[in-house]
Amino acid sequence: MGFFLTFEGLDGSGKSTQLRKLATHLEAQGLAVTVTRQPGGTRIGDRIRALLLDSKTESLDPMTELGLMFSARAQCIAEVIAPALHGGNIVLCDRFTDSSEAYQGGGRQLGSEIVLRMHRTMCGGLNPDLTLLLLANFDQSLYRARRRNDRTASPEGDEARFEREDELFHRRVYDKYREIAARDSARVVVIEGDRPIDVVHQQIAALVDQKLRSAGLLPHPTATSVR
Ligand code: ADP
Ligand code: TYD
Repeated sequence: MGFFLTFEGLDGSGKSTQLRKLATHLEAQGLAVTVTRQPGGTRIGDRIRALLLDSKTESLDPMTELGLMFSARAQCIAEVIAPALHGGNIVLCDRFTDSSEAYQGGGRQLGSEIVLRMHRTMCGGLNPDLTLLLLANFDQSLYRARRRNDRTASPEGDEARFEREDELFHRRVYDKYREIAARDSARVVVIEGDRPIDVVHQQIAALVDQKLRSAGLLPHPTATSVR
């Protein structure tokens, strides 16, 4: 039935970097890997993403924002995630429902309950097998995300709407992530992101290999005889 792994964290915490490196690591072991992201991951989802992330999008009601996040998610589950899991793939997803709980529930102050209720309605009971929550230095993360988005902005639009929120918004997101990690400690593993990229990667690769062995998706290392 495959394995569903999500990456979470503040903007600029290093999720996408680590996701790419983990995909390469898993593929090198012969595993079939599907990489996707939210909001987005499908043609329809990418159109919703452009609307949600463009800083030119103004006066979006928080409930509309939440609904659009879940609409993009439902489409991604139907088109990408569920078929890949049924095919036995390892699915690596950049953000999932925890982001809605942290950003809309925490940041926009809608609260957790409505987000979790929408999750039950829209996500067909799909929960990650494992979530890696990357927590890096607060100011550094936002600085990195803003610098990256300045580089990638184009006349057709940017992806800066959330990064332009003030510090209090991002503090609420951060606090909600901590709350989720404490509540769902069996699923969510906090990864210290303030270390060199390769050091973080080694920790993630070892942890995921071990989880995949427990799930029977990777063989256990054979004992080598010592003469
Ligand atoms: P996210 O997907 O969480 O927004 P990215 O992976 O896109 O974050 O990283 C944001 C920026 O920070 C990129 O320019 C990336 O090269 C850099 N970066 C990622 N991880 C680290 C790290 N551990 N140390 C220093 N810079 C990093
Ligand atoms: P992403 O492209 O992952 O941003 P970054 O690479 O900077 O971390 O996500 C886009 C933004 O969308 C990010 O600021 C978080 C926000 N978001 C929500 O507010 N709710 C959600 O449910 C999701 C999936 C993302």
